Amino acid sequence: MLKSIDPTTTSSWKSLRSNYEKHHEKTIAQILKDEPKRVEKLSIPFEDEFLVDLSKNRVTQETLEVLYKLADECDLNGAINAMYSGEKINRTENRAVLHVALRNVSNTPIYVDGKNVMDDVNAVLAKMESFSKKIISGEWKGYTGKAITDVVNIGIGGSDLGPHMITEALRPYKNHLTMHFVSNVDGTHIVEALKGLNPETTLFLVASKTFTTQETMTNAQTARKWLLDAAKDDKAVALHFVALSTNAKEVEKFGIDTTNMFEFWDWVGGRYSSWSAIGLSIVLSIGFDNFKEFLAGGHAMDKHFQSAPIEKNIPALLALIGIWYNNFCGAETEAILPYDQYMHRFAAYFQQGNMESNGKSVDRNGHKTSYTTGPIIWGEPGTNGQHAFYQLIHQGTKLIPCDFIAPAISHNPVGDHHPKLLSNFFAQTEALAFGKTTEQVEQEFLAAGKTLDEVKSIVPFKVFEGNKPTNSILVKKITPYTLGALVAMYEHKIFTQGIILNIFSFDQWGVELGKQLAGRILPELADDKPVDSHDDSTNNLINQYKKWR
Ligand code: F6P
Repeated sequence: MLKSIDPTTTSSWKSLRSNYEKHHEKTIAQILKDEPKRVEKLSIPFEDEFLVDLSKNRVTQETLEVLYKLADECDLNGAINAMYSGEKINRTENRAVLHVALRNVSNTPIYVDGKNVMDDVNAVLAKMESFSKKIISGEWKGYTGKAITDVVNIGIGGSDLGPHMITEALRPYKNHLTMHFVSNVDGTHIVEALKGLNPETTLFLVASKTFTTQETMTNAQTARKWLLDAAKDDKAVALHFVALSTNAKEVEKFGIDTTNMFEFWDWVGGRYSSWSAIGLSIVLSIGFDNFKEFLAGGHAMDKHFQSAPIEKNIPALLALIGIWYNNFCGAETEAILPYDQYMHRFAAYFQQGNMESNGKSVDRNGHKTSYTTGPIIWGEPGTNGQHAFYQLIHQGTKLIPCDFIAPAISHNPVGDHHPKLLSNFFAQTEALAFGKTTEQVEQEFLAAGKTLDEVKSIVPFKVFEGNKPTNSILVKKITPYTLGALVAMYEHKIFTQGIILNIFSFDQWGVELGKQLAGRILPELADDKPVDSHDDSTNNLINQYKKWR
């Protein structure tokens, strides 16, 4: 059972407030000078795979010590043990939270309601392995006897973002199958995806935990019709459709034989499900052995999170520093900036991961929180972002803590692209932390042969305040293993923040109201009669739509 501790009542929360008053004017540059061992202490290796440098933060060692105490006062260790041992910590849905079991490659037993879940996990993994081998080798044939060439994953949210992000990030490991991802209920998405595909050689994965999600079911029906228009035989469905779901009843209702169903369980949250059967598209794209490596990387990070002391615990430190900015320094957002084009969906993935988990305003006692909860997550790959929104991070008025992620070894070491990319990665965090003073700007003008009189009016615009916080995550190489570890690292960061913020991170009731209202509106759109059942604004919009369509 998770304890319910209002973090603002802890002694550390109060100390953090006074620490903020005491230290908030100390710059990163000053802190680095004052703390000679800082880089050593705050550069934390994860095996020989990546290095997380937390030293360029506006957090003094004194503040860090209080943050460690906060984790302790909020019983982070108790919460980790509760999650790992299968307790039903998702209380509002009465479910365990066991994505760690999905990647438990050491196979130690984990029990839910007295049953070792590892038996089921291993059985589904074995089924994914044998199925993927048949598809990849071409042994599995479509309705005209041809091998599969294209795989379309139909899913949304957690049933799309993870598989999509991971297959993109691991493209260097991919085989001959072409992957497609369809999520939006906008017909454009499926129509465009199906253009150029051959029904004889296309496999659809209908990925949905609940198998009731409107977008996914609508796209799946459209795909089914597309297949049957060509095949003209219902038997083709069994050869071209598989389901990834927890809901066997709905899968059967849809017309997919449950032998073609890859199961997972209610203790897998949608946004934590890439490790489960939802990851079948990943397996098909990079092969089962690489998927096992991805699981192994996640598992290694799980062990680190469970056993590393707080001052060396990477996910916990990321979480605590995030809490500092979010709850004490007034930051509202965090940017995730991968310097790796293959990771172009990484920020979008953790936008759901973080915002659907910690975007709550009721605490674990059912009371409205008196403090701010999860941050807004956003980001794009570098260097593209540098030419788009970095201006505001450097010289705007908002505080935006950023995570910079880059691989030391590129999968595409062409010409001098990679040193150029990495020089930008290093330069940005340096520029953000240390800026450029008035004196430095003036010196530059003088060196270029200008007089101070000539440039006086332009100098202020060229000054960089600096003191912008960043975490740098330098990865040796993006492999299935390191990507698994990185994903698990962010998952545990989110978990830690949810524990400290005393909220339930594993439900998502906030997505329901919109779904409910859309369900009410849909039948009203069936005819051209004006509606008056809503507020004036909504009535007016619906009626305008009816006139124009
Ligand atoms: O609407 C939100 C949500 O429930 C997410 O949490 C989930 O990842 C997504 O929809 C898809 O749900 P499902 O896998 O059940 O189709």
